Amino acid sequence: MLNCIDLCMAHRKLADHIQHHLEAVVQGNLEATRQHFQKFLFLLQSHSTAEEEILFPAYSNAGLDEPGCSVELLLKEHVKIRRLVMEAKERIFFTGAVLDAASRVAWVEALHMLKEVLAHHDVRERTVFFPKLDAHLGADAHALAAKAHERERALLADLETQGGGI
Ligand SMILES: [Fe+2]
Ligand SMILES: [Fe+2]
Repeated sequence: MLNCIDLCMAHRKLADHIQHHLEAVVQGNLEATRQHFQKFLFLLQSHSTAEEEILFPAYSNAGLDEPGCSVELLLKEHVKIRRLVMEAKERIFFTGAVLDAASRVAWVEALHMLKEVLAHHDVRERTVFFPKLDAHLGADAHALAAKAHERERALLADLETQGGGI
């Protein structure tokens, strides 16, 4: 049975997709950079949407908001992450993109801020948000986690078949 904390598995997968994307950048493999970034983008979109639709309302309704981990703060981080991802997407999928030495360096540097924001967001959710939900809901956390996980999987399947996303 899932707990809310188990939904952090998506965070590890997101970090892996970014890592593989960056490795492809360093190797100068444009096709692979795009494939790995697309996987990152689809998972980010489905994971963050499932949080916003299912977990954030549950957290607020349970009165769990606190200054260092409020839904308002988490949503602000989602907005910032989406903005940085949007910028990266435009650069990576630009038709005339080339991966010469200079642009490889620039592409790696350009993702630094996104990686930092994702790392902060991961810590906030992994150490406060998910544990508080699990502790407050007790046995009811299993149903909530399963619902959010199922929603994430369904959104991801839709994106993988239809494309789109951020
Ligand atoms: Fe998350
Ligand atoms: Fe999140």
